[in-house]
Amino acid sequence: MSANSVSVRPDGPYVFTGRVTVCDDAGRALRQEAQVALCRCGQSGNKPFCDGSHTRAGFNDAGLCAKPEVGAVAADGPVRVTAKANGPLMAEGPLEVKAADGSVAFSGDKTWLCRCGQSNNKPFCDGTHKKIGFTG
Ligand code: FES
Repeated sequence: MSANSVSVRPDGPYVFTGRVTVCDDAGRALRQEAQVALCRCGQSGNKPFCDGSHTRAGFNDAGLCAKPEVGAVAADGPVRVTAKANGPLMAEGPLEVKAADGSVAFSGDKTWLCRCGQSNNKPFCDGTHKKIGFTG
């Protein structure tokens, strides 16, 4: 089990807790916090951060996970979350992803989380961002 986790909020954002650094695609640290909410609906005006736009946009996703990816995770260490240009959140470092029903959707040291809001395999990226021309 990792000290870092992210909760997938129903119809809302990802809420990361732990030793979290959020970076842009150039590797610049945007924030280093013990808790941070990142957009997963694709509509935030302040990407990669959540600005509450999911409510206005009517984002509708229960925050469940159909295909969990549960593996070994390093005991400790920070997690670096990179907002890939026009693509997903790439999380590197020990992390546990908790679906909205409390189940473990992912545990491990590297994963890609959808931030365009349209993946058919949420919370994971399935490449749909390319098809829909997601920008952010
Ligand atoms: S970011 Fe949504 S499918 Fe890749």
